[in-house]
Amino acid sequence: MDSNKSQKKKKWFVSLVFSLVLSTLLIFVSIFVSSSSSFRFYRIRVKKDVPHFVESKLRVSSRQDSSVPRIAYLISGSMGDGESLKRTLKALYHPRNQYAVHLDLEASTQERLELANYVKNEPLFAQLGNVRVIVKANLVTYRGPTMVTNTLHAAAILLKEGGDWDWFVNLSASDYPLVTQDDLLHAVSTIPRHFNFIEHTSDIGWKEYHRAKPIIIDPGLYSLHKSDVFWVTEKRNVPSAYTLFTGSAWMMLSRPFVEYCIWGWDNLPRNVLMYYANFLSSPEGYFHTVICNAEEFRNTTVNHDLHFISWDNPPKQHPHFLKDKDYSRMVDSNAPFARKFGRNDPVLDKIDTELLGLNADGYVPGRWFSRVKPNMTFLDLGIKNITQLRPGPGAKRLKTLINSLLSAKDFKENQCA
Ligand SMILES: *[C@@H]1O[C@H](CO)[C@@H](O)[C@H](O)[C@H]1NC(C)=O
Ligand SMILES: *[C@@H]1O[C@H](CO)[C@@H](O)[C@H](O)[C@H]1NC(C)=O
Ligand SMILES: *[C@@H]1O[C@H](CO)[C@@H](O)[C@H](O)[C@H]1NC(C)=O
Ligand SMILES: *[C@@H]1O[C@H](CO)[C@@H](O)[C@H](O)[C@H]1NC(C)=O
Repeated sequence: MDSNKSQKKKKWFVSLVFSLVLSTLLIFVSIFVSSSSSFRFYRIRVKKDVPHFVESKLRVSSRQDSSVPRIAYLISGSMGDGESLKRTLKALYHPRNQYAVHLDLEASTQERLELANYVKNEPLFAQLGNVRVIVKANLVTYRGPTMVTNTLHAAAILLKEGGDWDWFVNLSASDYPLVTQDDLLHAVSTIPRHFNFIEHTSDIGWKEYHRAKPIIIDPGLYSLHKSDVFWVTEKRNVPSAYTLFTGSAWMMLSRPFVEYCIWGWDNLPRNVLMYYANFLSSPEGYFHTVICNAEEFRNTTVNHDLHFISWDNPPKQHPHFLKDKDYSRMVDSNAPFARKFGRNDPVLDKIDTELLGLNADGYVPGRWFSRVKPNMTFLDLGIKNITQLRPGPGAKRLKTLINSLLSAKDFKENQCA
């Protein structure tokens, strides 16, 4: 009786185990058979999507290219800046680069039209098509977030229409180059294309109380007429979701980082932009905060703004206007750009003759164009091979600066610290 019972139990157990094994086997087989095709599909789909996501993050650390780089410039100005904007544009011109110029809504319609006509009728621009005027002008409030939205607007246009460029540089009509574009392109051709030149620090100091806590509103976001930012009586806390960074409003940003900010596949750039909508002087913090809180970009920062700017000590809201007496400090800084200059200040003429070798048309000659006869136009001559450069002393200066930045012992410690 007892043994019979245990035998029955054994039988029952054996059949249970058998059925378990069988069903497991069946499940495995069915999974393999039915889903091998969907596995493949899944893989293909992921591969297709990857460039927008994971791979572009991976590519960030390995972007290297042997060709001559291209720079996309935004040059913006306001009322009365038309002439200095043209001057800066010509001094920066190179056929390989891309340009967007913008006169904000404070400038008169006539002044903006005049700029648009100038760009349209300038034979060189017409021939090469690499200068575009932002016709739908923005209302830009000084110290307001509309300064950042204006920069993002131009970056988006340059991404959409500007072809293949490597870096984005945001300048104003009161900026001026201290090296030729042949110098600049030559000097940056050997550095990794994903590097971002952005001066920054997390040590926000007095700005915590005077910038991070107050809340401002920029009427430029919704009004047709220009008026200054105003303050809300409430204060807010310093963000805890990310760390605030601050620094210079002048920078040279890599294409991958600009794409990251514009395309918005990650929500960080968008959230931070909305946060900075109520932040005084957002151009001194927006890109810095985004880049240093994005894991895949923080290691691409070079802590310098590539500008010579002469501040008071301690700094006031505006830097000094640069004059003749600043000339040698400017050159010795090895920086490729300087600001800010008064309209047609004599020191600009000195830069033209001594550093840029400006020709009679106001262009900076390079390998792409050198005049053979005095009255020859660009069109008579045709554009020479624009991938060949003729670097001069400016390239040497800029290389000295870049080498000292990249080989500095504290290069890593200076990234997003
Ligand atoms: C861009 O250029 C304008 C000059 O028009 C400047 O005022 C602004 O602060 C710059 N920087 C950024 C990050 O927008
Ligand atoms: C950035 O650099 C740090 C320190 O060198 C390293 O630990 C980290 O993995 C790097 N991050 C990326 C995304 O490369
Ligand atoms: C060059 O241009 C100037 C003025 O634009 C003119 O007076 C001169 O005759 C021209 N010379 C030649 C060789 O065409
Ligand atoms: C321009 O110069 C580059 C580099 O020297 C060369 O590879 C290319 O073939 C040249 N292009 C033309 C159109 O001459």
